[in-house]
Amino acid sequence: MAKEVNIRKVAVVGCGFVGSTSAYTLMQSSLFSEMVLIDADKARAEGEALDIKHGLPFAKPMNIYAGDYSDIADAAIIVITAGAAQKPGETRLDLVKKNSAIMKSIIGEIKKQDCQGILLVVSNPVDVLTNVALKASGFPENRVIGSGTVLDSARLKYRLGEHLSVDSRSVHAFIVGEHGDSEIAVWSSANVSGIAVDDFCEMRGHINHDKNMRAIAEQVKNSAYEIIEKKKATYYGIGMAVKRICEAIVRDEKSILPVSSMIHGIYGIDDVVLSMPAIVGKDGVETLVPISMSSDEVEKLKDSAKTLKEVLEQTK
Ligand SMILES: NC(=O)c1ccc[n+]([C@@H]2O[C@H](COP(=O)([O-])OP(=O)(O)OC[C@H]3O[C@@H](n4cnc5c(N)ncnc54)[C@H](O)[C@@H]3O)[C@@H](O)[C@H]2O)c1
Repeated sequence: MAKEVNIRKVAVVGCGFVGSTSAYTLMQSSLFSEMVLIDADKARAEGEALDIKHGLPFAKPMNIYAGDYSDIADAAIIVITAGAAQKPGETRLDLVKKNSAIMKSIIGEIKKQDCQGILLVVSNPVDVLTNVALKASGFPENRVIGSGTVLDSARLKYRLGEHLSVDSRSVHAFIVGEHGDSEIAVWSSANVSGIAVDDFCEMRGHINHDKNMRAIAEQVKNSAYEIIEKKKATYYGIGMAVKRICEAIVRDEKSILPVSSMIHGIYGIDDVVLSMPAIVGKDGVETLVPISMSSDEVEKLKDSAKTLKEVLEQTK
């Protein structure tokens, strides 16, 4: 019989840069009282668990340990960050073959545990690997989600906040589609606390919206490449994004987040995993929120879906 889910327990599979940073943000979040770290390199998981738990006297009590798959049976959320990372110049899609084989082997282990928790896939290419995890696990669609464009949307909000000299939390803007080169910034619904982004730009004395917005979207899209070029890996931003998604689930917040999930019939797109704003709560993705988009944005979203489907074919 399946073990009952412990809403206070999280598992992190893969303890490299992204996994260990996510574990560190989760330790500080007070969301969980138990966290198991799993890595193919057991010593790495043990080292990270030790290092992170030495911060506990400055945080809240929590049981943090390196374990194996038998420890994840009752975890509420299983964060999967295992896999090879992007090398300089390598696209996320280049990683597909390597990482889908790793994902299939991890899901095989998770399946043996009869888990009722939520899978949160972070490894890249995240949309394709979320699809692989969904199919391989047989879990219901609401319980298999990817971090998707939560990070990209945060980068967009950050850059817009900087450009407009306003708190990035007051900026409401989404990147949708693939977490990667075909992602789309949805300018048509972007706003600053209800004021259309173009109007807010004018208020702040900016003209040349189109040029500025195109430049910001390009910067956001290329952020990972730039960071990887400079410091080999990205992990702080995604660590915060993982914490935010876990928070929405554990606290049943019903927050609208652009996570990656299986799409059926939005703008004619079907049977592909990509990011659209979704209501996220205790059951994972509750429902999608099909925000209004311009016809040009819809066409780009369809192209993004097509790209992802083509890449998914390469994993078969
Ligand atoms: N979704 C996002 O927004 C986002 C952002 C940054 C990085 N990433 C992705 O996260 C992944 C991890 O990146 P990283 O920088 O931490 O890489 P890393 O190389 O530092 O860590 C990967 C870890 O996975 C482990 N691993 C490999 N195969 C495993 C297996 N079968 N079972 C358990 N553990 C296994 C390795 O031992 C290693 O510790 C990459 O795919 C990267 O592209 C995603």
